[in-house]
Amino acid sequence: MDKVRLGIIGYGNMGTGHTHYILNGEAPEVALAAIADVRAERRDAAKAVVPESVTIFETGDDLIDSGLCDAVLIAVPHYDHPTYAVKAFEKGLHVMSEKPAGVYTKQVREMNAAAAAHPELTFGMMYNVRTNSVYKKMRELVRDGGLGAIKRVNWIITSWYRTQSYYNSGAWRATWDGEGGGVLLNQCPHNLDLMQWICGMPVAVRAFCHNGKWHDIEVEDDVTAYMEYENGATGVFVTTTADAPGTDRLEVTLEMGKLVCEGDVLTLYKLDVNEREFCKNAEGGFDKPPMQELIIETDGSYPQHQGVLNAFAANILRGEPLIAKGEEGINGLTLSNAMHLSSWLDKTVTIPFDEELFLNELNKRRAQSREKKIVTEKTFNTKGSH
Ligand SMILES: NC(=O)c1ccc[n+]([C@@H]2O[C@H](COP(=O)([O-])OP(=O)(O)OC[C@H]3O[C@@H](n4cnc5c(N)ncnc54)[C@H](O)[C@@H]3O)[C@@H](O)[C@H]2O)c1
Repeated sequence: MDKVRLGIIGYGNMGTGHTHYILNGEAPEVALAAIADVRAERRDAAKAVVPESVTIFETGDDLIDSGLCDAVLIAVPHYDHPTYAVKAFEKGLHVMSEKPAGVYTKQVREMNAAAAAHPELTFGMMYNVRTNSVYKKMRELVRDGGLGAIKRVNWIITSWYRTQSYYNSGAWRATWDGEGGGVLLNQCPHNLDLMQWICGMPVAVRAFCHNGKWHDIEVEDDVTAYMEYENGATGVFVTTTADAPGTDRLEVTLEMGKLVCEGDVLTLYKLDVNEREFCKNAEGGFDKPPMQELIIETDGSYPQHQGVLNAFAANILRGEPLIAKGEEGINGLTLSNAMHLSSWLDKTVTIPFDEELFLNELNKRRAQSREKKIVTEKTFNTKGSH
């Protein structure tokens, strides 16, 4: 095999984006073999741009069963990511899933178990923001230990501004039954993944999720979460889709200084001495540890979705490393599930949390949801995909 024959399930906003760069030759080891979408208008849109060699299917099941693909890229609404991943593994296909891994961790565990039952198959998660060189560098600096232990993690990520028109653009959007959550499930999976990828997982979360605070939606559009880590470090994660202008500032304070990533600029405020030692030994009550402010240079690369898909193909063809293993998708979802559960129960949630309880609470909200799950063309009521 010199190219991976790929089938894309879901030709909406993101499926279209993936198709275009593949057809543009930006994923040279991927041959687009098939596309599936339940809506006729999206299938027609696909037919208008792809060569005749690409087969168009009405359902993901047909695409998976066709024998035309070595791998699938799942780009449908969130609840169906694990559903199609499990089916694809059972048919011997490699899987790349869009984020988030799913809506609830119990479902994602089943997906990960299906992947574990097929170790010969590649399983990747479309965490394209991990390819941004500033986050890669930040992870390296935090993880190599030279800056000491983490004391504090703060991410203000309020630059996900969305209007009411965005939420009106697809019936599955911003509903418990269609999407499974709001800003935490749609916009923040990248941030939650990066936070755990760089700093590790917290052990406890207390969150305040405000549903429909700024938009006419039933799910959260404003969140403040407090986190505690195993070593005693604490963190705060703040997000909304209603701040203009918003902020995107990830700040990690460690014993030897502080890393700040804002606007794709990574700054290190590097102490000459460990703050813990300085605090104990300094003679003046108002003394401060001496420090230098350094802009950290990176190679500036950010290969985005193409980078993730090219690494996926290289893993299938030659065993090269993935950008994000599929099994790691559960970590970011664990964070958003914990934030939702904490807010619903109005108390601190420890990780691991009770996954049955989470599902029961989610199902209560799904039962009251404005929009029921949209899977067929007949019930699909969208005015546009984005
Ligand atoms: N990685 C990124 O940067 C990024 C960016 C945007 C969206 N996404 C993710 O991509 C996924 C899709 O989002 P979107 O914005 O493209 O949504 P969308 O609504 O524009 O597209 C979803 C498409 O899936 C189709 N579909 C629904 N159920 C289906 C099924 N069972 N079988 C086949 N087709 C089905 C719909 O008809 C629709 O065309 C989501 O998981 C979203 O979070 C990722």
